[in-house]
Amino acid sequence: MKTVDDLEVSGLVRADLNVPLDGTCITDDGKIRACLPTLSALLDRGAAVMVCSHLGRPAGTPDPGYTLAPVAARLGELLGRTVVLTADTVGPAARTAVAGLAPGEVVMLENLRFNAGETSKDETLRGAFADELASLADLYVGDGFGAVHRRHASVCDVAARLPHAAGFLIQAETAALQRLTRDIQRPYIVVLGGGKVADKLPVVGGLLGQADQILIGGGMAFTFLAAQGHSVGLSLLQGDLDVARSYLDRAARSGVDLVLAPDVAVAGRRDAAGPRVVVPSAAIPPDKMGLDIGPESARLFAARLANAKTIFWNGPMGVFEIPRFADGTRAVARALADSRAFTVVGGGDTGAAVRAVGFPDDAFGHVSTGGGASLEYLEGKTLPGLAALQADDQPAVRSAG
Ligand code: 3PG
Ligand code: MG
Repeated sequence: MKTVDDLEVSGLVRADLNVPLDGTCITDDGKIRACLPTLSALLDRGAAVMVCSHLGRPAGTPDPGYTLAPVAARLGELLGRTVVLTADTVGPAARTAVAGLAPGEVVMLENLRFNAGETSKDETLRGAFADELASLADLYVGDGFGAVHRRHASVCDVAARLPHAAGFLIQAETAALQRLTRDIQRPYIVVLGGGKVADKLPVVGGLLGQADQILIGGGMAFTFLAAQGHSVGLSLLQGDLDVARSYLDRAARSGVDLVLAPDVAVAGRRDAAGPRVVVPSAAIPPDKMGLDIGPESARLFAARLANAKTIFWNGPMGVFEIPRFADGTRAVARALADSRAFTVVGGGDTGAAVRAVGFPDDAFGHVSTGGGASLEYLEGKTLPGLAALQADDQPAVRSAG
């Protein structure tokens, strides 16, 4: 008679291993570490594990510049096991590797976004890719918190095709973020910066109804400065200025303090060369770009944050990877670390930033691996990747409990 121990179960784990890279060198492995509890638990139980993720934003076709090879190597080191990266995602190479997987072994599928079906808005195309992913495994585990706001094949559509469960990272993330949606201790201050401004701008609208103050620095500030009619020189400028303007108006009407960094450190180029000058945010020279908030902004933000009872921070205050543009990010990190508030640092890049400027994760209440995902969660949106895991129409597997 066969027993449960003889059953060979294979699990497809959707992780978010979209780590920052300098060439092929991983500059922060926080997202890889964050998926270890789920992977280890499955492997220790004898599952054959296929881990999959996106990396960057390749155009739906294989692109060696976005290979997961460095990530597979680092995951292997952290797990203390060999992690083979398959040469394709769901093609012959992946199928052969999966067919040869023994219980307790793990492979990584090559970048999901090498396949146009992964991110397609066309449900049929997405579904076809999800069918191929689902055919590789018996079970699906969603653990890529940083991608749960994306309606992508590996995030949503696979869950409809396989018995599924949420991994430990998704459970921990949602438990921490729930504290920012119910019984919020006030004042509640949100600090926003970083890039992907076009993605994140709409979230400001949602946060206007929740936060008492919103402090804006980093790449996000220039959109609001431009919306106020200031010239921002060569600074990052993304997002719809009319939308930004409407938020400034709404904040003024509703009494939410929306504070833009009053000064900014600028240079002619986004690299380590050339002089760094501090100017008022309203007077950025046409041939310069803002690369960090200035000292006055750092002092102002720290003073505001000192009085908060709840703080959420998404997005670095500058190009922290370059040491002389890291002061603003360090000042905000210090303000959160010194604060008695419940503090959440949200976002893969922001988590990487606080670690890069010298703060351990335990200096904060929670460090989230998802930037866009945590912002949309706080905004109160239904996140497609979480909804897919909650769906109770899954192919039935009953748990022993
Ligand atoms: C992130 O880094 O924010 C996540 O991995 C999501 O990536 P995306 O914004 O390219 O979908
Ligand atoms: Mg990010």
